[in-house]
Amino acid sequence: MLAKTPPMGWNSWNTFGGDISETMIREMADAMVELGYRDAGYEYLVIDDCWSELQRDDSGRLVPDRRKFPNGMKAVSDYIHSRGLKFGMYSCAGVRTCAGHPASFDHEFTDAQSFADWGVDFLKYDFCYKPERADGPLLYYRMGLALKVTGREILYSACNWGHDDAGKWIRSAGAHMYRSTGDIQDNFSSFRDIALSQIPNLCYSNTGCFNDLDMLVVGMYGKGNAALGGCSDAEYRTHFALWCLFNSPLMIGCDLRTLNGESRRLLQNRDLIAINQDPEGRPPFLVCCTNGNRYSFFRHLADGKFAIGYFNLSDDDTDVICSFTDLGLPAASDCGFLLRDVFTGEEWGPVREYYNPLVPAHDCKVYLATLVKTA
Ligand code: GAL
Repeated sequence: MLAKTPPMGWNSWNTFGGDISETMIREMADAMVELGYRDAGYEYLVIDDCWSELQRDDSGRLVPDRRKFPNGMKAVSDYIHSRGLKFGMYSCAGVRTCAGHPASFDHEFTDAQSFADWGVDFLKYDFCYKPERADGPLLYYRMGLALKVTGREILYSACNWGHDDAGKWIRSAGAHMYRSTGDIQDNFSSFRDIALSQIPNLCYSNTGCFNDLDMLVVGMYGKGNAALGGCSDAEYRTHFALWCLFNSPLMIGCDLRTLNGESRRLLQNRDLIAINQDPEGRPPFLVCCTNGNRYSFFRHLADGKFAIGYFNLSDDDTDVICSFTDLGLPAASDCGFLLRDVFTGEEWGPVREYYNPLVPAHDCKVYLATLVKTA
């Protein structure tokens, strides 16, 4: 079974856009292995848009760009597999990809077979240039079947930006993850708005099919294709912690070859990844929202553990509120939480009744919690 837990990997779009090549992809595969990302759980290396020639070949097949990928896609795939990683590619349900390359509308079964022949393990399937009369969900049903009939296990990453209430039917199309919003950009308001927009949809993300809040911008620092301003390290912490707590796939979007230590440690934070990859896949619930910009969330994890996340999305340093009564623990229960800070490893408790930490502006605190009797 694919996508037992949110898929993890790297995708070329956020940093490189159309500026991709076999050399860069090989170097990224090496970086994923040598810098510890593969061991931390990031397994898919995905080439996004702009990988193909502008025309299909005489038999109607997609052709890899001869300049960018002179040895074809099977060679790229073999290299990625030789590094113990999985290989992802991209197409689109319309007549052209978003960047104007040929796409899979009415070619679904041919293209899925090409992907399978190249050893592809993951297909991101976009939604640009849909013929007006075509039914959106039906196009995702089609590719779902086209992938299945190849006989190859291919993770199906649907990307219709949440159109047609995607969360309600896209699991039925065979998708293993699905984008629910427009494109992320490398700035605070972009990831904040995406996360807040998905609070009502947290329940539509679970084992087998996860709500994809889009590729991560952690570590871009204002450079690259989706960069628009950049973020501070505190903001990247908040972004990554939200994606982890919210069960989103974790697809890194920065250049791993040159990433600094701070962002590398964040992307490889074991406790946050464990929360994201929790086998029960339960969504968090919102405990408290103050002023529309300070949020506390609580999430049940497997093995009797919990996660509590505090997010200060305001521009001032401030306490973020979490009364334990509001998450189901009245004072009369004589219970409290042992807490472990996922960023510092510090442990203390039991804490009873409430815990309202001071959180710097745009920053977060996340704790792994164990529920204990205190009386
Ligand atoms: C967008 C998609 C992006 C990226 C881009 C490529 O529609 O949401 O993630 O794939 O197309 O052109």
